[in-house]
Amino acid sequence: MAIGVVDPDELVSGVLADQVGPLDGQAGCFATLTECLEARDPTVPCVIVFGPSGHPDEVISSVEALSPSRRGFGAVMVVEQLTSEVLHRALRADIDDVVSISADTAELLEAIERSFSRISARQAQVPVSPAIESEGEHPGRIVTVFCTKGGAGKSVLATNVAVALARRTADPVVLVDADLQFGDVALMLQLHPTRTIVDAVEAGDRLDSTMLDNLLLRDSASGLLVLAAPTETRAADRIGRSDLIRVLSVLRQYAYVVVDTSANFTEVTRASLEVADDILVLAGLDVMSLKSARVGLQTMDVLDIPSSRITCVLNRANTKVGLTEADAARVLQRKIDIALPSDIIVARSVNRGVPVVVSDPRSRFAKSIGRLADKITTSVPAAEFPQAS
Ligand SMILES: Nc1ncnc2c1ncn2[C@@H]1O[C@H](COP(=O)(O)OP(=O)(O)OP(=O)(O)O)[C@@H](O)[C@H]1O
Ligand SMILES: [Mg+2]
Repeated sequence: MAIGVVDPDELVSGVLADQVGPLDGQAGCFATLTECLEARDPTVPCVIVFGPSGHPDEVISSVEALSPSRRGFGAVMVVEQLTSEVLHRALRADIDDVVSISADTAELLEAIERSFSRISARQAQVPVSPAIESEGEHPGRIVTVFCTKGGAGKSVLATNVAVALARRTADPVVLVDADLQFGDVALMLQLHPTRTIVDAVEAGDRLDSTMLDNLLLRDSASGLLVLAAPTETRAADRIGRSDLIRVLSVLRQYAYVVVDTSANFTEVTRASLEVADDILVLAGLDVMSLKSARVGLQTMDVLDIPSSRITCVLNRANTKVGLTEADAARVLQRKIDIALPSDIIVARSVNRGVPVVVSDPRSRFAKSIGRLADKITTSVPAAEFPQAS
């Protein structure tokens, strides 16, 4: 993989080339996009980083002007000021990400890495592979909560939706904490994990329903079953894509399997998306959160995940921050399906370890969650399920 830095100011491109050094120690510096494209080896996947000296409109137009066949590169823009307007236009021009010049280097490197993943996925044409049988006669629905921004409300959403689903069906519902490093779902339900997903993974092919019965924690108030995240963070490194797919394929005997994911786009998160019948994409009313959601939606597009599986959830939708639900829909280029209000009862419920749908069932937050659960229970299941390896 290679990185090209495009900026009319040599000094600026030099600084950016140093910054991206950990990913490509020999990143080239170019004054224009044309020079960069001429110098690049088309057989090597390349991400072009556009520096902040060029006007954002010109950068976006120069990318837009290229024919699709010349666009076989990833693109990340660094801008002086990140606004929803610039972000919206850049993403529409198929620029993978926009990073503010004041962001730290780690954020820029992450954006470039995500861009590389998109190119690799495009080149590998990663298919959503054929179905594998679940153990039960009636395979359950997998509902994955996704957002690559930390603290956006994924676990609150996953926990409340899972409990709402458990209350809508006599069949068991499972909540899987696939935030392998920092999962806190058990904490949110006041459960104390004695067994975790690590035990399920270590069981390998021996994992079956009887064994699962012993590994799942039970929330007595709702009857919800929980497969907890590892209790030691290092265990996360031992769990990969195929492990999660195997565990979920066994869990599919339950009516609904809700999967909470981490803010990092790991291979485990990606697997949780690929197997999902429903994906709840969470966004908030701030530029960074909308950006993450938009990039997430684009990534799913590249992974060939049908948009019919996606439900857009806007959290803290009533927050007065200058952006509206309509702005969010515009940036995401799709309608917001469910809006969740910001409410102090949410923070309180997290602290008490009792989900809002249990503690305050008549609140607007709980009612919105109820509508979301209804949407899930009435939609048609997706038919495909990837292979574990
Ligand atoms: N609608 C809301 N109203 C008020 N507070 C909220 C709302 N949604 C989430 N929060 C607060 O935000 C905090 C973070 O939520 P949560 O832990 O679900 O985020 P997360 O996306 O899972 O974070 P991480 O990326 O760290 O896993 C919660 O403790 C809760 O207090
Ligand atoms: Mg979380």
